[in-house]
Amino acid sequence: MDNPHRLPRTVIPKRYALTLAPDLAAATFGGAVDIEVEVGSTTDQVVLNAVELEIDDAWVVVGTTRHDATVSLDPEAERAILRLPEAIPPGDAVVSLRYRGQLNDKLRGFYRSTFIDDEGTERVIATTQFEATDARRAFPCWDEPDLKARFTITLELDDDLHAVSNAAIVADEVLDGQRRVHFAETMTMSTYLVAFIVGPLEVTEPIDVQGTPLRIFCPPGKLHLTDFGLGVAEFSLAYLADYFDIPYPGDSMDLIAIPDFAFGAMENLGCVTFRETLLLADPNLTTRSELQNIVDVIAHELAHMWFGDLVTMKWWNGIWLNEAFATFMELKVTDAFRPEWERWVSFGLARSTAFDTDALHTTRPIEYPVVSPHDAEGMFDVLTYEKGAAVVRMLEQYLGEDAFRAGIRKYMANHQYANTETTDLWDAIEEASGEPVRRIMDSWILQGGHPIVSIEARDGGRILHLTQQRFEYLQDEEDDTRWAVPLQLRYALTTGEVVTTRALLDGDHLDLKLPAPVAWVVGNAEGHGFYRVQLSTDLRTALAREAHHGLSDVERYGLVDDTWASVLAGTTSVTEFLSLADGFGAEADVSVWRRLLASLDQIDRLVDGAARSDLQARVRSLVGPALERLGWVERPADSDRERELRGALIGAMATVGADPATRASVADLFARLCADPNSVEANVAAAVVRATAAIAGPAEVDAIIERFERSDTPQQEVRFLYALADVRDPIQMARVLELAMSPAVRTQNAPFLIGSCIANRDNAPQAWKLVHERWDEMNERFPSNSIVRMLYGVRAVTDAALAADIDAFTAEHPVPQAKQALQQHLERMRVSVRLYEREAPLLTRG
Ligand code: BES
Ligand code: ZN
Repeated sequence: MDNPHRLPRTVIPKRYALTLAPDLAAATFGGAVDIEVEVGSTTDQVVLNAVELEIDDAWVVVGTTRHDATVSLDPEAERAILRLPEAIPPGDAVVSLRYRGQLNDKLRGFYRSTFIDDEGTERVIATTQFEATDARRAFPCWDEPDLKARFTITLELDDDLHAVSNAAIVADEVLDGQRRVHFAETMTMSTYLVAFIVGPLEVTEPIDVQGTPLRIFCPPGKLHLTDFGLGVAEFSLAYLADYFDIPYPGDSMDLIAIPDFAFGAMENLGCVTFRETLLLADPNLTTRSELQNIVDVIAHELAHMWFGDLVTMKWWNGIWLNEAFATFMELKVTDAFRPEWERWVSFGLARSTAFDTDALHTTRPIEYPVVSPHDAEGMFDVLTYEKGAAVVRMLEQYLGEDAFRAGIRKYMANHQYANTETTDLWDAIEEASGEPVRRIMDSWILQGGHPIVSIEARDGGRILHLTQQRFEYLQDEEDDTRWAVPLQLRYALTTGEVVTTRALLDGDHLDLKLPAPVAWVVGNAEGHGFYRVQLSTDLRTALAREAHHGLSDVERYGLVDDTWASVLAGTTSVTEFLSLADGFGAEADVSVWRRLLASLDQIDRLVDGAARSDLQARVRSLVGPALERLGWVERPADSDRERELRGALIGAMATVGADPATRASVADLFARLCADPNSVEANVAAAVVRATAAIAGPAEVDAIIERFERSDTPQQEVRFLYALADVRDPIQMARVLELAMSPAVRTQNAPFLIGSCIANRDNAPQAWKLVHERWDEMNERFPSNSIVRMLYGVRAVTDAALAADIDAFTAEHPVPQAKQALQQHLERMRVSVRLYEREAPLLTRG
């Protein structure tokens, strides 16, 4: 192991006894840790991780002998080295350290989150976020995922505060005005899963879920927003224990909403932390997609209690499996929790985001080498999560859900409390299914990109001839990458018979012989495959005839998505895409609509003047009738997806459709909303706010900001805030950008707002100028993981001059924690510029 970021294994931890005493007012903490270790061979030094901690005292006890250590710190390597006056022998020892640190406001390690209470006073919560490598900022430790140990945590706090950690409370000592809260010892687990929180919180009564007490903690005054999350967590815990066939491994389950949080949520064992928007909600005031996010995130983190916490990757190159699998499970749980949400249909949208990065030269294999902490941070991207989940789903569907689950159960049972590599999972599933799982999956995991499968009919339609080739937006050279593609096909014969079948395209081509000539074929039936499909002209025409009765929602989604991808690749024109879109007037599915509307939005960036008016008219004639069918007013029988669709269609009519009548109604609703934000159905309200922002003058921007500042729910708050990114008036945009940099916007949200401003059709240069001018300040204030999320906005830039400026600036200002994601954003920006250069002249000529 010659990685300088890996610790020597001479001394390894078994048990940590950790006491922390945070001083919330002073933003400091004191810590004491005693670590039972096993010394593997005679040594006179102990090396462990520590960053930005002041170590006052350190010693090692062997038997009854105390050896005082001299401590030196290596900030580069994020280590503390304890040197002993004499060597200690192999066997048991206890390493003790006493230290101090700062509660930082970078939302990592042990940090400070704040909120303003009802009296207008700022209150502080001390909380933790350790994944991937920040436990070492809170206590000296062996901070690598395979060095699992047990943890006994004690917190010292003021009387009126709450303390939460990974395990249940076993003792609560009262000292004068202070308390000392003792938590039970945890199971053996990795350091990145340790958590502790101290602050003025409120908590729900525990619910018993199969013997586990479940609670939600939140900032004061928000308990009325906890019911929905509790119901989801209760459902998820039971579903997951059954799926894995192992009871929940912890002794308690607390979910905590934190006002400042760098990520979405974090799977600390028994102590899961969340952004407020992803845990607290009033379902009556929340859009369907906001609610779905909550279910997804809770289910995702709870899936990690088994997949991640109980069975953990050996090293960070395995993080993809952790996150991909939790994402896959999140979809299964959400689908079971609310079948009417059709979660696997809307997953199409997430799969599209993965395709969109994976079609770049700068994509990477899902499993990828990790050396440094920066490399580990760079792994949390769309390829790990969305592509990872998509290929796991593809495998599950190819093997069948039962065989797949049998493999998962075997894997969990064999590796609980231990660490694994990806191949351990394939081996277990291979054993359970008898299929060549490892060979198939290696082709998806160890190489980047994905194929486009071309299908043509031969021999009078009695043979389907399939070939594969890598799909890329900027295709300049032949690429001989091949995948073992688990195909799912559905075809109709001229006899009328419809057949669904699976096959493995393993190599350049595959011929399927049919009993009668083919009438039409769907190349990715039910859309589970992570591949694009290209039909020969004949087959395409035949399928187009079937599109609205022969195809399922997912398949129609796939048709639109594959066609749009071919527009980006330059093999289909925007005009051809628009003709395809014209055929979707009768569409009823919200995901299909979202995919169509997103493309229309991108096309809107390619046109001006008369061509833009033409596009607007076209959008009105496509969307208008669909909205009329659905009506503006909620009907009691509406499904959640119909409600969501209503919002999406209103938004499109008002923005890309520029429809005067819709805009007038939007203005009325906006006025109503300003008087009472709860007076308009949530899906419609969200659309109204965004549509208003798009045409806002100073008065509307004032109103939106005011509503953002006095919102009733976490969702409303970000709904008003993020809508501001859509303003078109440059003077209003200047205000929005100023706001984003002000203390009024939390640093957990500002980068997302600014990122969307960069993607603004009319104001990208202005937003980019802000990044250019205030780069250092942003890097100083914003959480590390969010910088590249902000730069995501450049993907939409179509202007060559601005793109050149962005390229030049980012070349000088690297983002070491997300090198690859940045390169992907830049390449995707070139795809947008090229689309503009290719299509704008054609569309303008008409
Ligand atoms: N383990 C992650 C959180 C995380 C990500 C920590 C990156 C450190 C670095 C957690 O399980 C997660 O995946 N959270 C997601 C939300 C999830 C539902 C996709 C997140 O934070 O975005
Ligand atoms: Zn996760």
